Amino acid sequence: MFKILYNFERIRFSGKTFYPFYLSYNYKLRPVFKTIKLNKEYWGKKIPNLKYGTPNPLNAFSTDRDKFSDAMTTFKFLGVFKTTQAGRHKETQQFLKTYLVNFPNQLTILDIGASDGITSLDFINVINDSIKKYYVTDYNIKCTYYSYKGYTYFFDHAKNCFLVASEKFVFYPTDKKLFDFIFKKSLKKIKNFSKQELLLINSGLKEKKEGNEAIEIMEYNVFEAWPKEKADVVVVGNLLNKAYFDDAQIETALNNCYNALQENGILTIIRNILQENGEEIERSTIYKKNESAKIFNKVHEINGGIEIDEFVSSLSFK
Ligand SMILES: C[S@@+](CC[C@H](N)C(=O)[O-])C[C@H]1O[C@@H](n2cnc3c(N)ncnc32)[C@H](O)[C@@H]1O
Repeated sequence: MFKILYNFERIRFSGKTFYPFYLSYNYKLRPVFKTIKLNKEYWGKKIPNLKYGTPNPLNAFSTDRDKFSDAMTTFKFLGVFKTTQAGRHKETQQFLKTYLVNFPNQLTILDIGASDGITSLDFINVINDSIKKYYVTDYNIKCTYYSYKGYTYFFDHAKNCFLVASEKFVFYPTDKKLFDFIFKKSLKKIKNFSKQELLLINSGLKEKKEGNEAIEIMEYNVFEAWPKEKADVVVVGNLLNKAYFDDAQIETALNNCYNALQENGILTIIRNILQENGEEIERSTIYKKNESAKIFNKVHEINGGIEIDEFVSSLSFK
């Protein structure tokens, strides 16, 4: 049994690697592990050196900051993971701290796609005294859930179930047919039961926000116009990249960033690239809004800048 689980995602046999497949409804072979994953917190205790598996999504109910952020790496909405972690914007934040000293006024900052807000908390701590207003925003700032017979079902805006977690396993609707085969009955049963809401914000940021009116946590979709006052700085970390969106979508999002900024406001786009050794490289590019030319001018880049820099620099905005 343990051997099967140890090899859950890949089986090595005679020097070759095999993936556990199942025969889907249209006679195509599909990998099981994209839909069903091991809950590492449970199996890791039983199987030493467990290679595969996923952090425990049920830690989204934990007040421990690191466990919570770890749980967020398992939350995936419409193809975008909420993966985040403290310290991953460090170099960019240190640059901004020095650069923003020249700003004449206290700063209004808009952080887009902030996930659980742990990197926003880092930035707030770095530039604390300069903040007039800090908007921590994400399109998926909360979700709803229902626990039933040992499984917790998580639902998005559109009331679609995007994740099911138990103590032992984690399920995604990656392969809808397989997912429906397993959960169709239960999902039908709980469909009209009232669900509870879960704010997907780290406890560290929640504490910081208490009694601090400068911090506002709100839902915001980057594909819509920013509805509040214009910002001096817009930060977009690990959201605007071609793995998630096509050029037209990125252009729409950038146009909204442009219009969310004051004249001479600063746009910061960050992309953390995961390396083979498991460590991340922080790459970012910092731009200044040029209202007369209706473009972004590059101010600075860190570790070679972002992959979409040429694209950003080629656009003119409305
Ligand atoms: C990979 S996380 C990045 C979190 C954090 N900025 C960081 O760099 O660690 C991407 C975040 O973007 C959010 N997101 C996805 N689509 C979005 C949209 N249309 N508008 C705003 N946020 C979105 C996701 O919910 C997720 O929390």
